[in-house]
Amino acid sequence: MKKNILGIQANFLNPNGITNETSVSLVKDGAPITCIAEERLSRVKLDGRFPTKAIDQVLENEGISIEDVDTIAVPFLHPAKSNYKYLKSAWKTYFDTGIFLKKQIKDFTWFTLYDSIKKPRTLKHKIHGKEFSLELYDHHKCHAAGAFFCSPFEKALVVTLDGGGDGLDGSAYVGEGTSLNRLFEIPHFQSPGTMYSAITSDLGFKRHRHEGKITGLAAYGNDDLERLGLDDLLSYVPNKKRFVSKRVAEHHKNADLSEKSKFFYPLLEKFGREDLAAAAQKILEIEVVRFVQNALETATKKGHQVDKVCLAGGVFANVKLNQRIYNIEGVNNVFVYPAMGDDGLSGGAALLSYFEQSEVKSKKAAEIKEIYKGIAYDNDRIKAALDQANLSYTHYDEVEKEIAQLLHQGKIVGRFNGRMEYGPRALGNRSIIGAPFDPSINDWLNKKLNRTEFMPFAPSINVEHAKDYFIGYEDNHIAADFMTITYDVFEDKIEKIPAVVHIDKTARPQVVREETNPSYHKIIDEFYKLSGVPVVLNTSFNIHEQPIVCTPEDAIAGFLEGKLDVLAIGNFICT
Ligand SMILES: [Fe+2]
Repeated sequence: MKKNILGIQANFLNPNGITNETSVSLVKDGAPITCIAEERLSRVKLDGRFPTKAIDQVLENEGISIEDVDTIAVPFLHPAKSNYKYLKSAWKTYFDTGIFLKKQIKDFTWFTLYDSIKKPRTLKHKIHGKEFSLELYDHHKCHAAGAFFCSPFEKALVVTLDGGGDGLDGSAYVGEGTSLNRLFEIPHFQSPGTMYSAITSDLGFKRHRHEGKITGLAAYGNDDLERLGLDDLLSYVPNKKRFVSKRVAEHHKNADLSEKSKFFYPLLEKFGREDLAAAAQKILEIEVVRFVQNALETATKKGHQVDKVCLAGGVFANVKLNQRIYNIEGVNNVFVYPAMGDDGLSGGAALLSYFEQSEVKSKKAAEIKEIYKGIAYDNDRIKAALDQANLSYTHYDEVEKEIAQLLHQGKIVGRFNGRMEYGPRALGNRSIIGAPFDPSINDWLNKKLNRTEFMPFAPSINVEHAKDYFIGYEDNHIAADFMTITYDVFEDKIEKIPAVVHIDKTARPQVVREETNPSYHKIIDEFYKLSGVPVVLNTSFNIHEQPIVCTPEDAIAGFLEGKLDVLAIGNFICT
């Protein structure tokens, strides 16, 4: 049986080329043990270059060499198969909408033929002198694998949705034991992922990067679709088992996707951006919920009883959408893969390789309780970095108590501790934290950090109190451990934590457990003793558009550049 599987999300076909968010994950005996996105090491946001730094760092972290790696698993299909799937999607789009994607059909026909004839069946790649035959796995199946194998569920519906990969925009599976059984696939060219990226770009933000701003902005707008003429923009059609949208298909046909859309952008003159964001969010929620409902019905028809849902793919970075999915009748729990975007694919590919080829009957080894899968730095290493930077600092054995006091005094603290998080959310180890009391903090702290955000910062709350603050929260709601779902906040609690509740009275909590992050849990507990509120405000520790900090040096630079009040790094405090 294979022991060390390295999952690599990268452009192997052209190692000098780029792809989405490259990353590397090491799966050992079925457990994801170290997972790092290249951007954290290269310091280039959403870096899509070949992840040479992440490969070396993952090996170093585990004290192994490339000789110890048994297999390389890659989250894309052979290009001939992938291009054929794009071609099929283009034809389906024509039959659904009458939009003939002439360029795509011509190109993908040619690519399919060329790659079938010219590309070797087995792709090979050398890393540090060792040649591997790459194991290739479907992009969406890798999203699904991360979501299901890492979830605590023995059986679940698994749904993926994104802006496209291997000719598809989504898929539905039933995960059971160590297997994923496909129900159906969502073709490319008509999906809500493209629609949501279009609104992001139309409102002047960067697509594939700033979609979260739209989700925040949406709460301020009027979402009457008829008034905006958007009620037929996109719909999920259950009997076809796919999304149908003539206007999204036209967008693919007529525009480079980074150009403005013809369906949202022209409306900006007449309506506010808040209304357009609200409309996009409403369409997304309604149609994706219909997709998930249809997938549940399909699973039932095939004899599967499922009441749990696993989600992955960039679309499920949308915390409001995930709340809607949790609220579907018949759904009793939801798990969102914490690295839901393409940076999560390396973990999914490695897990898929392990479970497809091993005799193991249980996926227990893969189930995650935390997502601190990156690098840690000890106090000696941190001290050296502080000395190098000429900062004065104090060492505290009980640093958590000290941090809580500073938070209680209203200080903004850059907290750097333990292993870095995998995925887009900072969960207390690379976080900027503060007290949750001042509603104006969203304005002034974002300004200080040089950010534009419309969603308030997130609350980190200790699990013992989460039920008192968030309506419907249960201790087994693991999605909330990773800040991947919103909840409505109890009316009497909104005034206690106004800095972290949105205008629509929701919040996207990170529920903190002592067993998974004892230091962060203690900070919150000490803060609770001082303030009577078991919540701190949490936002990612990074400065304007840079990746989240990785090393002590990054944290020091972030502290100085962001003019934070305090840097609490390991057991040291700098003010
Ligand atoms: Fe994807």
